[in-house]
This record gives sequence, structure tokens and C-alpha cells, in this order.
Amino acid sequence: QPPNSQTEESCVLKRADCRAKRGAPGFKVAILGAAGGIGQPLAMLMKMNPLVSVLHLYDVVNTPGVTADIGHMDTGAVVRGFLGQPQLENALTGMDLVIIPAGVPRKPGMTRDDLFNINAGIVRTLCEGIAKCCRNAIVNLISNPVNSTVPIAAEVFKKAGTYDPKRLLGVTMLDVVRANTFVAEVLGLHPKEVDVPVVGGHAGVTILPLLSQVKPPSSFTPEETEYLTKRIQDGGTEVVQAKAGAGSATLSMAYAAVKFADACLRGLRGDAGVVECAFVASEVTELPFFATKVRLGRRGAEEVYQLGPLNEYERVGLERAKKELAESIQKGVSFIRK
Ligand code: NAI
Repeated sequence: QPPNSQTEESCVLKRADCRAKRGAPGFKVAILGAAGGIGQPLAMLMKMNPLVSVLHLYDVVNTPGVTADIGHMDTGAVVRGFLGQPQLENALTGMDLVIIPAGVPRKPGMTRDDLFNINAGIVRTLCEGIAKCCRNAIVNLISNPVNSTVPIAAEVFKKAGTYDPKRLLGVTMLDVVRANTFVAEVLGLHPKEVDVPVVGGHAGVTILPLLSQVKPPSSFTPEETEYLTKRIQDGGTEVVQAKAGAGSATLSMAYAAVKFADACLRGLRGDAGVVECAFVASEVTELPFFATKVRLGRRGAEEVYQLGPLNEYERVGLERAKKELAESIQKGVSFIRK
């Protein structure tokens, strides 16, 4: 028999009490799209995160099963499931961090932009819920096309009067994870030793790895630069083709999403020096949104870092990236304003 809600609440209170005594802050996190290919492993990994005290799993299908399954893991977070639009508000109320992997993924031959028509509407509805129920939450937006869904979310929040640019972050962490992996392979290093900034956006040529700024400082031949840049830009398509119709990256994405969410939670806790790349409101270029390194703190992306020195290859890539990004951003903005 599942515990009744009174028992569940007293269990939450007991665990909260326990955490308070240990001096361990616990954050409340919701995953919207929690029953999907990304959502399920993401929910599992967040249940393992010691910074999470309450985990809300929301989807329009299958959340009772996923919640029962993940709820049996003997880690600290209390898990609750929410199914369908009528339960969205309960899923969101009181949340500190909302992670959104809801929407359809790519099939072979599709670009991320082909997903716009379906995912734009889904993101709008979910962000309207956030504006109403947890306006101060940090939002990690994964649903593609990120280059357009982040501007959509910003417009929804503006309309509702709740927009705080620091709290809205498009997740580009998978591009960084891939870049670290591929660059480490070329350099013969462990990926953990490598740090590759990836700027711009999250689609094709808008994904711009800055190989001239790799840590540890490294030099690459023109062939290596071309190979690495293309492989990082096409990493998603590599997975879409290998899965041959069964979806896009889910497991590496869940890993990347948790890496990013954990950084956001450490920022919320007040840790110093938490820096990751994300697609955010920005003044680094003439575009209103751009991905660069940001410093995460109690209020979200508290500092947006400049690009730093680029080489000629990167300068050319940047111009190409900005052209496509400008169109994707405008498409997102017009979707709400029209
Ligand atoms: P999926 O189809 O396996 O799962 C999506 C989930 O969203 C499903 O469970 C579905 O029921 C749910 N959903 C649909 N409409 C919803 C709504 N209105 N409210 C709540 N949930 C809803 O797809 P997958 O593979 O998990 O991908 C999800 C999204 O993440 C796609 O848009 C994909 O393109 C994107 N993605 C983003 C990446 C990034 O680096 N930012 C990387 C990989 C995927």
C-alpha cells in the first residue's frame, strides 16, 4: 500500500528536521517531462543528489510508475509524482529549481528547429505555471530548440511580470561534456583534467567550442581544430543517427543536466567560484541571449563572463553562429509576441 499523504508529509517533515540538525540545506527540485528519455535517468540521478530534499516528477504520462520506482531508492530526497496539466501547479509550488526536458526529440534528418512547432507551445504552458507558482525558482531549460525556447520562456515571464534574467538558464552543458570528452581523446588526457569553453548557442554552427582557451593550455593542428569543432557541433546528430529513429541523446544529456543542476544548487547554497557555460540573457555580443561561462550564485547566473581572446578560426565561427542565433532568438520572441 502506498503511504497516505499524511504519512508522507510527516515523513517529509522528519527528514527536513534531520537535515536541519545536520546543517545540510535541502533544495526542492521539479522535473517537467520526468517520464521521458532524459527525464527518467535525470530523475534517478537527482534522487541521488544529497543537495535535493524534495523531488517532484511531472509529466503528462507515466509519472506514477516512474515515481514509485525511483521512490524506492534509499537516498534522502522525498519523491512525489504529478500527472497531467491539472497537477502542474501542485508540482511547481515551493520549488527552488525547475528542470525542463519536456517535449519531442529529433528523429534522423530533423534539425532542432524542426521541433519548434510542438515544443514552443509546451514550454510556454510550463513557464506560465512557473510564473504563477514558483516565480523565484531557477529554471534549467533543456527542451529544444534551446536557442528559441529560452527567448520564449523569457517572453512568458515578462508578460507575467516575473522575469529575472539571472534565473533563466538554457542548458548547453552537453556540448561542454562532449567537448571535454573529444578533446581529452585527442590530447590523451582524462576528461576530468580538461576544460573546454563552449559558447554561442545549442544547435549546429551556433555551438562554438573555444579550443584556443582549452585548459590545460594546448595547441591543435588545423586538421584537429576542424575535426574537433565539427564533431562537437554534430555530436547530437551522431547520437540521433546511431539511435536510428529511437530518439536523441538521453543518457549523456541526463548526466549533463545533473552536472549543471548540481552546479546551480551549489550556487544557491552560496558556494564560491561555481562557473559553468549556459545560454542566458547576455550583453557579451549584440544578441539578447548568448552562451558563455557564467558564475552561479544564490540569485542564479550572477555574472556573465566575456568571451576572452579568440583566434581567427573562432572569429569566423562566431560571426556564423551569431547570424543563425539572431534568427532563432527572433523566432522564439515572435512566437509569444505575435
Ligand atoms: P522524450 O520524448 O523521450 O520525452 C519527453 C517527455 O516530455 C515525454 O515523457 C512526454 O510525455 C513529456 N511531455 C510532452 N509534453 C509535455 C507537457 N506538456 N508537459 C510535461 N511533459 C510533457 O524526449 P527526450 O529524449 O527526453 O527529449 C526531451 C527534449 O530534450 C527534446 O526537446 C530534445 O530535443 C531535448 N534535448 C535537449 C538537449 C540539450 O542539450 N539541451 C540534448 C538532448 C535532447
